[in-house]
Amino acid sequence: MTTSGAQGAGRPAPRGATITGIGHYTPPRVVTNHQLEAAVETSDEWIVTRTGIRERRIASDDQATSDLAIEAARAALADAGLTPDDLDLIIVGTASPDMIFPSTACWVQDRLGARRAGAFDLMAACSSFVYGLAQANAYVGSGMADRVLVIGAETLSKITNWKDRSTCVLFGDGAGAVVVQPCPPGEGFLSFHLGADGSRGDLLNLRGGGSRHPASYETIERDMHYIYQNGREVFKFAVRAIPDAIEAVLRQANLTGEAVRWYVPHQANIRIIEAAAKRLGEPLEKFIINIDRYGNTSSASVPVALSEAMEAGREQPGDVLVLVAFGGGLTWASCALRWTKARSAPRP
Ligand code: UT7
Repeated sequence: MTTSGAQGAGRPAPRGATITGIGHYTPPRVVTNHQLEAAVETSDEWIVTRTGIRERRIASDDQATSDLAIEAARAALADAGLTPDDLDLIIVGTASPDMIFPSTACWVQDRLGARRAGAFDLMAACSSFVYGLAQANAYVGSGMADRVLVIGAETLSKITNWKDRSTCVLFGDGAGAVVVQPCPPGEGFLSFHLGADGSRGDLLNLRGGGSRHPASYETIERDMHYIYQNGREVFKFAVRAIPDAIEAVLRQANLTGEAVRWYVPHQANIRIIEAAAKRLGEPLEKFIINIDRYGNTSSASVPVALSEAMEAGREQPGDVLVLVAFGGGLTWASCALRWTKARSAPRP
């Protein structure tokens, strides 16, 4: 599915939509590769060369996903100069919700005090945040909402099997959030491309605790409440999916790679990002990368990278950015946008 930012189903929309506030939160606890060497049979050298990850942030025992989401949300609201009461809608993308239901978005809505806002979770695994931006664009572009908060938040550490070296070295916790508001057409979001291939849902999943495999002694014994991943197959998928999704969204926006100032890819593996850059013929310097410090934070990875880059003054008004993500489902999603915000103040 590919759409341009100011149009839906071929009909001109009354207005565009853009990011007016951004923020992120990562838990203070750092777990290095060397610390993992003590827990499973692995090495810093293996993890760095195969993934690019050096350390990750891990939530405390009493921190759930909504706790991280709320911190990121407050930062994004402050950056946009809004209060929680200004919000019309809250969308939370997460693969590690506080509970199966109610939605994590509802916990966030309550604790923020966003009394006027509707709230729902969106599940497209690691692509959820970019899928959420497409939703926000549709709501704001159509006039159904004026101020939408989109959050990507995860505590993957809670659903990681810490005895499985093939997954536990990969994941981390974090949250990123943006506020989306109206803007003149042609600014802000330019185009979106969303995709899915449900025939490959077996490659990356968490099988236990849903209606297919309700929680039982057996699901616990078979480790079905942890993330399962066929890493090699997901890798092969990703190195094609990223460039394909970037090319599709640029085509839709009538742009070429030359116009792009920054690519903000899902941070799953530095080798995937390098392969995608090579395939596109683009220099790696145009890709915002922070996987070394956070690992793979699923739906939080794109907004955390975008927010950190904003604090560092990298995105400038007028810059064309492409956000791109892929993950379980399988899903993929990309978004081209013209940045409209002046630099956010670094947080204390
Ligand atoms: O956001 C969700 C999307 N997910 C992804 O994008 C993940 C995509 N996949 C990957 O990033 C890579 O496939 C991994 C990083 C997960 C794995 O890297 P790989 O180069 O594909 O390794 P592999 O699975 O082919 O395993 C190679 C070897 C195996 O040993 P043998 O069979 O060759 O003796 C593994 O048992 O590395 C071994 N291995 C490890 N060794 C040390 C697997 N995990 C580890 C580990 N430390 N942590």
